[in-house]
Formats: sequence, structure tokens, C-alpha cells
Amino acid sequence: MFIENFKVESPNVRYTETEIQSVYNYETTELVHENRNGTYQWIVKPKSVKYEFKTDTHVPKLGVMLVGWGGNNGSTLTGGVIANREGISWATKDKIQQANYFGSLTQASAIRVGSFQGEEIYAPFKSLLPMVNPDDIVFGGWDISNMNLADAMGRAKVFDIDLQKQLRPYMESMVPLPGIYDPDFIAANQEERANNVIKGTKKEQVLQIIKDIKEFKAATKVDRVVVLWTANTERYSNLVVGLNDTKENLLAALDRNEAEISPSTLYAIACVMENVPFINGSPQNTFVPGLIDFAIEKNSLIGGDDFKSGQTKMKSVLVDFLVGAGIKPTSIVSYNHLGNNDGMNLSAPQTFRSKEISKSNVVDDMVNSNAILFEPGEHPDHVVVIKYVPYVGDSKRAMDEYTSEIFMGGKNTIVLHNTCEDSLLAAPIILDLVLLAELSTRIQFKAENEGKFHSFHPVATILSYLTKAPLVPPGTPVVNALSKQRAMLENILRACVGLAPENNMILEYK
Ligand code: NAI
Repeated sequence: MFIENFKVESPNVRYTETEIQSVYNYETTELVHENRNGTYQWIVKPKSVKYEFKTDTHVPKLGVMLVGWGGNNGSTLTGGVIANREGISWATKDKIQQANYFGSLTQASAIRVGSFQGEEIYAPFKSLLPMVNPDDIVFGGWDISNMNLADAMGRAKVFDIDLQKQLRPYMESMVPLPGIYDPDFIAANQEERANNVIKGTKKEQVLQIIKDIKEFKAATKVDRVVVLWTANTERYSNLVVGLNDTKENLLAALDRNEAEISPSTLYAIACVMENVPFINGSPQNTFVPGLIDFAIEKNSLIGGDDFKSGQTKMKSVLVDFLVGAGIKPTSIVSYNHLGNNDGMNLSAPQTFRSKEISKSNVVDDMVNSNAILFEPGEHPDHVVVIKYVPYVGDSKRAMDEYTSEIFMGGKNTIVLHNTCEDSLLAAPIILDLVLLAELSTRIQFKAENEGKFHSFHPVATILSYLTKAPLVPPGTPVVNALSKQRAMLENILRACVGLAPENNMILEYK
């Protein structure tokens, strides 16, 4: 059975006019490696830590500014939200299709709330805590191409033509602001597109971005803005001591107009200066150490990297399943071909390299979790290939071959073929990223040994379900397995309303 919403009644939860306050016992373990009677032993001690959470229930009017607004993802997301808001339906060759938010964790997935008379009861994920309704988001942003969003939607060739016709009137007047363009960081084949660029030094460009955010906020009367990079994949920035290794050096390098500061890092600097959450949906290392340093000091949310939309999402499910089942994946080979502008940009070796790095570390945590299968330091062969094939457009093909060793030296090969419009996978993920980033800034918490409430660490690991290469604070474990990432997110939101983590024990029926 499905219920639309619920309220928790418990001595551990208080709903006030402005907040939900909860007390939550975090059941965890403490490990010690000790010499006991001459031999070293691992001792595991269960431990309970009391946490208090408080969530501001005032849902702000949210503005989302996309870097790369006129791209396939930007135009698809904007059109998709308008179609939902306006209740648009359109004729396809199969049926009359209604707008929906399929593919969005917050809008289209469910959580289990309990059992009632022998039946499992589910509710929408978004019913856990008050969240912005995506229909109410005001979109804006930048693009180095000045094409309006209606024409950009046509250029993207993602939506059916009947839908495009209905969306055009809403999108014609949406024109991206000029963007920061540096041909050294994206493929040379993008140059033709760059007719809408901010002039001046890097410092002047940062100041222009800040001005743009302030003007957007004032003009749209939104309470909060989140900025998200869905522009072209850049090459990696070189990490240089004295240039981008600390906050001071990065800001000094900005003053000197140093060439090695990428456009994406410039947008991120502007956002941190303004305390506006900034999320990176592409694979490059926008968050150089100096930027992370700066964000931590300003307590300004940063999250990334690279949307986890298709092939990698499958990988973080399949390898988790294989290793969890005691099967040893020994070779993982992933081919992609796509024909959109992202594919064209990725056909240059330096930008492809960014994608290759972000796609390749995704199995590490699962492999490292099982030393029965893998010797220390041993890894499956893991190869990623991407080719640009214009004809297929946004309809990306991903082909994967997983070879594993099974019982008694046997071999098992699984082959997957995935065909789908890339932007239809990415758009709902962008939505989740901005909605959850906004929500996480309204949550405060403290452990029993902490005096004051504080927000989550500014490096937003809570978003890791949605990203291929989750950015984590220095010294924090990276979790790639999809089910663990989802459980982390859901369980933290459950804690905010005083609910225990979903443990799937269903002891009542055992
Ligand atoms: P796209 O090429 O259609 O759109 C990117 C837009 O960014 C273009 O309109 C371009 O003019 C603009 N742009 C480039 N540099 C800019 C800058 N410095 N400032 C402002 N605008 C700039 O690409 P698409 O398909 O929308 O993808 C966007 C990004 O998302 C790519 O980096 C891609 O790798 C990444 N991504 C996409 C996924 C998907 O499933 N669609 C999955 C994971 C990542």
C-alpha cells in the first residue's frame, strides 16, 4: 500500500512551527587492535552515540543557475520542469504521454515506512522531510552559446516534436547569460559555439558571476540560489604548489590572472565567495585543493563530481552484487558511443582523460571490501572507451562486458547493452542534486559530545548517490556502491524525523 505522507509520533521527535527536532541513537562500532595474552586481536565494541538533529521546515523559493544552461542537459531539465509545472501532455507514436519525474530519486522513488495489517506500507521519498517542489524552481544560468532555450531544445533533439512545440513559447525568452570561456580547457571543436563570453581578467570574470547571481536573485525574488555545472567537460587542471594548493595561493593566483585556473574553478570561487552551493556535474577537478580549502573555511557547500547516470550507475550495482555474492570480477570493459555535443567534446584526448579517470575508480571500494577474492592491491582489468558517432545524437549506447571467476575456476561473462537518451537520464539527477543540496543546508545536528549544532561538512558527501566520483573531505572513505549510497541518504533523512535506519529485518514476521 502507498500513502502520500505521514507524521512521526515519538518522545524523540518534536514538530515546532519552524523546525523538526529529533534525537537519534546512532548504533555503530568501535574497533581496537590489541595485544591480548601475547597475540594481536581485533576487538569490535558496539557503541551508541546520541545525536540531535533539527531541520528548518521553511521551504525557500529556489533559483537554480546552470552553467551550460543551453546544453542538452540544461535545456532538457528546463523543458521537463516546465512540462510538469504546466501539466503538459503530448502525442508520441505510441500514446499520449504525460509529463513526469521518472528517474528522480526524490520525486519518483519510495521508502518503506512499516507494516500495517500484514502489508508493507510505502511513501514517496520526498515525504520524509519538507523539500522544494521542483515545479516551483526558477531556472537561469550561463552559456558560452547565446542560443535561447527553445532553439537549444531543438538543437538537442531530445524531446518529441509535439512536446517541443508546446514548450517553445515558455522557453523562447530564456537566454543564457554570457559564460566564462577558455579554449585551453575544453576541446577545440567547441570554439564555433562560443559567441557569448565574458571579457576581462579572471578576477573580473569572477566578479561578473557574482553580479549575475545577485541580479538573478533580485529579479526572480528567490530566497536561495544553487549553481550547478553542466557545461562541457574540461581537461584536468594541473595541481601546482603555490598556485592552487591552498586558499591563499588560489586567490593570489586569481589576482595574478594565472592561466591554469579553469573556468569551472572560477564559477566555484564566485559561489564560495557568495556562500552559494556549487555542484559539479562533470568529471574535471574543478575542486582543486585550494578551492576545497576555501569552501571549508567559508562553510559553503560544494558537491560533485560527474553525474552518475547510466553505465557507471549499473557498474556500481553490478560489481557490488558480484563481490557481495562472493564472485570475483576480473575484467570490466566498457564501450560507449554517442553523438551529442558532449560526445564531440569528449573526442579530444585531454577531456576524454577526465572522463576516463572519473569512470575508473568506481569499483575500488567494492574490490577492497573482499580480501577473500582479491589480494591486497589486486584489481580487475578495467577499461573505458568512448567514441563520437554523430548519427546517434543524444541516444547514447553503452556496452559492457563483465568477466568473473566463479566456483572452482569457472568463468562467467555478463554482457549489457544500454541505449537511451543521455540527457533524459541526467536531468532528473540534476534535479535531485539541487533539491538535496538545498535541503541539506537546512539541517543542523550535533553529537552528544559536541556543544553546538552545526551543518553538514561543506563537502557534501550526502550527494554521493548522484555522482560518479564522489567528492569527500580529506581523510574520508569514498563509497561508490549504489545501494550503500542510497541507504546513507535515506537513513540520514530518516534520522532527522527520528526514524531508525531501514534494516530490512522484518522480525515481526519471523
Ligand atoms: P552539452 O555539450 O550539450 O552542453 C554543455 C553546454 O555548456 C553547451 O551548451 C556549451 O555551450 C556550454 N559551455 C561550455 N563551456 C562553458 C562555460 N565555461 N561556461 C558556460 N557554458 C559553457 O553537454 P550535455 O550533454 O548537456 O552534458 C553536460 C555535461 O554533463 C558534460 O560535461 C557531460 O560530460 C556531463 N555529464 C552528462 C551526463 C549525461 O548523462 N548526460 C552524465 C554525466 C556527466
